[in-house]
Amino acid sequence: MFRSLSVLSLFISQAFGTTHTLIISGDASGGAISATFNDVNHELILTGDTPLTTGADWITLVGTARAYLTFRASATVAAYDVSCSGALTLAGSPVSVPVPVYVGVTHNSSFLFTASYPNGAIATVPLSPEGIPIAPAATTTFTATAPLASPQDQARPHSGIVDVTGQFLIFPDDGLDSLHVYSIGASSATFLYDQPSPVRPSGPRHAVLSGFPVVADWIPRLHVVNEEDNSVETWIMHYTANNVSLILQGSAVSTLEVHGGLNVSTAAELLISPNGRYLLASNRDASLFANGSIAVFRINPPTAKTALTRVSITSSGGANPRSMSLDRTGKWLAVVNGNSNSTAMFPFDQETGFLASTPVANMTGINTPQTVVWLEDRHTPTATEGEILRLQKFV
Ligand SMILES: *[C@@H]1O[C@H](CO)[C@@H](O)[C@H](O)[C@H]1NC(C)=O
Ligand SMILES: *[C@@H]1O[C@H](CO)[C@@H](O)[C@H](O)[C@H]1NC(C)=O
Ligand SMILES: *[C@@H]1O[C@H](CO)[C@@H](O)[C@H](O)[C@H]1NC(C)=O
Ligand SMILES: *[C@@H]1O[C@H](CO)[C@@H](O)[C@H](O)[C@H]1NC(C)=O
Ligand SMILES: *[C@@H]1O[C@H](CO)[C@@H](O)[C@H](O)[C@H]1NC(C)=O
Ligand SMILES: *[C@@H]1O[C@H](CO)[C@@H](O)[C@H](O)[C@H]1NC(C)=O
Repeated sequence: MFRSLSVLSLFISQAFGTTHTLIISGDASGGAISATFNDVNHELILTGDTPLTTGADWITLVGTARAYLTFRASATVAAYDVSCSGALTLAGSPVSVPVPVYVGVTHNSSFLFTASYPNGAIATVPLSPEGIPIAPAATTTFTATAPLASPQDQARPHSGIVDVTGQFLIFPDDGLDSLHVYSIGASSATFLYDQPSPVRPSGPRHAVLSGFPVVADWIPRLHVVNEEDNSVETWIMHYTANNVSLILQGSAVSTLEVHGGLNVSTAAELLISPNGRYLLASNRDASLFANGSIAVFRINPPTAKTALTRVSITSSGGANPRSMSLDRTGKWLAVVNGNSNSTAMFPFDQETGFLASTPVANMTGINTPQTVVWLEDRHTPTATEGEILRLQKFV
């Protein structure tokens, strides 16, 4: 019975395609909207609308039933219940935080954290067992000791990332050109140290992790996309008891064919393929109508001289690709092109790193799209205690 059912569903998905749900936030679209993508006929269509306050920006999903969204206009972060069709319903009350551009959650959903680019601050907010934020937020504002010209004139934390042990939290700071490293406690985080970028100005913006456990025999590494000098740098993570050090592997690799200079085509998003072998970085373009691009990098072993090799740069299908997202099979890349008011869908091959240069679908209807996420259950791997001990001897 089960076997024939699964054979039947395989037949149906091959013949008619699987329908995937996405959620896209848009500044000028009243909040966040669901869409569906059929992976056989390539139909990408808007299916719903969730009336939220305007200014919905970052979206982080935890499982398939809980989402956290940031709102710049009201300087709040809020939890939402997510329906299976991607509709969002406010859960609990929004919590005030310094104007947030990013929200993330610890591995065990003990608290959420936000990064404030305009206010130079980070915030943490404890979560109830149901994942509802409990006010007030704990806020830290960073001060610039050696400010440069704008945007390096002040601290500008842009995102945050939890490491594979679930014990450390790292905030890339675009303005101070540094990584703020924190230790994760029961309901908030404690500052450990600042890791300065090798180059000033560089503009660390977003980061992803590679290596263990997805690639079991590679020591964990942190890849950081820099939006001021359009590059990706790689840090090897050396674990000791209660601490982690970041050791640079080689030089940063450009996201552009020709180095653009500052304020030209600023790099924005960084993704890793689900198999842990390729990175994808988006290049926005400073001018309104020029197309953005996507750079693909092969990840070399931790023992290699250079961590990354750029393999291609192709069109993002529109202007200002600030956010993009790969589905969990690594076959589809959804890119929101904010200045073209469009969302493009590109085939990707995570075995070869080949990204198509023409989208199979290009959806309009959401103005100034901000963030795109696939409504899928993504497991965040957390190292066990035994594995953490092994990581401490990995070097
Ligand atoms: C980059 O843009 C900012 C903000 O518009 C400006 O203040 C700064 O001088 C520019 N930097 C360069 C090198 O052009
Ligand atoms: C969540 O993980 C942190 C860090 O390991 C730990 O201090 C905290 O007690 C955990 N909370 C729960 C509810 O398991
Ligand atoms: C943690 O490691 C960093 C980087 O090596 C170091 O600067 C810092 O002093 C260490 N902190 C503690 C508490 O050991
Ligand atoms: C951007 O891409 C579109 C679609 O491929 C193309 O029609 C347009 O000419 C491109 N614009 C620029 C400035 O390259
Ligand atoms: C996608 O649609 C937008 C808005 O109509 C357009 O600007 C862009 O050139 C299109 N991209 C492609 C690759 O057709
Ligand atoms: C995109 O939408 C915004 C907001 O409605 C509008 O101001 C802008 O002109 C649109 N851009 C394009 C290229 O259509």
